[in-house]
Amino acid sequence: MASHRRVIIASVPDGPLEPGHFAVQSVPSPDCGEGEVLCRTQAFTIGAGQRAGLQGSASYAGAPVAGVVMGGTGLAVVEASKSPDFKPGDVVVGPTGWDELAAVKASALRRVDGAADASLHLGLYGTNGLTAYFGLHEIGRPERGQAVVVSAAAGSVGHMVGQFAKRLGCRVVGVAGSAEKCGVLTGELGFDAAVNYKAHDFRDQFRAATPDRIDVYWDNTGGAILESALFCMNTFGRIVCCGAVSAYDGAKPAAGPRGVPGLLVNNQVRMEGFIVYRFADRYDEARKAMAQWVAAGEVQTRTTEYRGLESAPQAFVDLLAGRTIGTTIVRLD
Ligand SMILES: NC(=O)c1ccc[n+]([C@@H]2O[C@H](COP(=O)([O-])OP(=O)(O)OC[C@H]3O[C@@H](n4cnc5c(N)ncnc54)[C@H](OP(=O)(O)O)[C@@H]3O)[C@@H](O)[C@H]2O)c1
Repeated sequence: MASHRRVIIASVPDGPLEPGHFAVQSVPSPDCGEGEVLCRTQAFTIGAGQRAGLQGSASYAGAPVAGVVMGGTGLAVVEASKSPDFKPGDVVVGPTGWDELAAVKASALRRVDGAADASLHLGLYGTNGLTAYFGLHEIGRPERGQAVVVSAAAGSVGHMVGQFAKRLGCRVVGVAGSAEKCGVLTGELGFDAAVNYKAHDFRDQFRAATPDRIDVYWDNTGGAILESALFCMNTFGRIVCCGAVSAYDGAKPAAGPRGVPGLLVNNQVRMEGFIVYRFADRYDEARKAMAQWVAAGEVQTRTTEYRGLESAPQAFVDLLAGRTIGTTIVRLD
């Protein structure tokens, strides 16, 4: 009987993630059920939000359980299909998980241009690119000349948010965890300034980098960076709550804001959380716009790539530890 390999969650982490929380298994290859498509995975992406899922703090993802295939979005070639919508050889994007061969419901798949690189389908046109697009344009709504600050700015969502804001004519400051990342932001991706939040004088540097204060703060991290931004918001500023990666890699954090309400009231700041799925009926519009920006050279994407299924657990650990830049992708092809 034919077999294939997959990565399962061996145990649900209750502290920092380690590769040992996962295990590679060799299992009999699945059959394709009615309405399903058998997908040979070429690549999949890993996002920081998946750690929130494993922590149990992403309510939309349900409670994490051990013994199941690690979830995730992959780019795949159709090997067999029991759906009229797909045929062998089609290139698709969908919830393959960390699995070399997955039987996926046809309704969860999207056919894509096989000639384009996996990194575009999984990054810019994937969940993280869509998150950057809708979060910035619909929630943050910065105007030309306004000051936008982005945390985890060299990460997948962050590096796209910053470039989208630059397109709109904003002054963009990135916050990232190393001098190398700050150099990429200002030297390659067009950010106006970048601040290393691990520097001993971070708060001073942060204030110096935001002389006109902040109109839109994009929060990927929560924690100390959010606290710094809260004190620098302009009147009628917006805080886009996208995620809280500073609180993901451990036990479920205690809930409850402390000094936040007063800071929001005084400057009449709007702080709004969102989940990208809210905009699902507009994804095509966003992908079309972003494709034009790439073609026009207005937006560049960055990826950190790993090879082989067995590299995925380490890739996930590296992502959380700040060792990746841009979108993290594991290639199986
Ligand atoms: N709302 C939505 O619908 C939605 C959808 C997708 C993603 N998200 C959220 O978007 C955020 C970014 O996700 P991503 O997939 O693009 O990940 P990412 O930014 O590519 O990777 C996460 C980065 O966070 C930084 N980080 C780690 N620990 C930190 C800490 N304690 N303080 C500050 N920064 C820290 C690291 O970079 P450094 O080197 O800079 O530390 C790391 O590389 C996450 O919060 C995720 O949950 C939300």
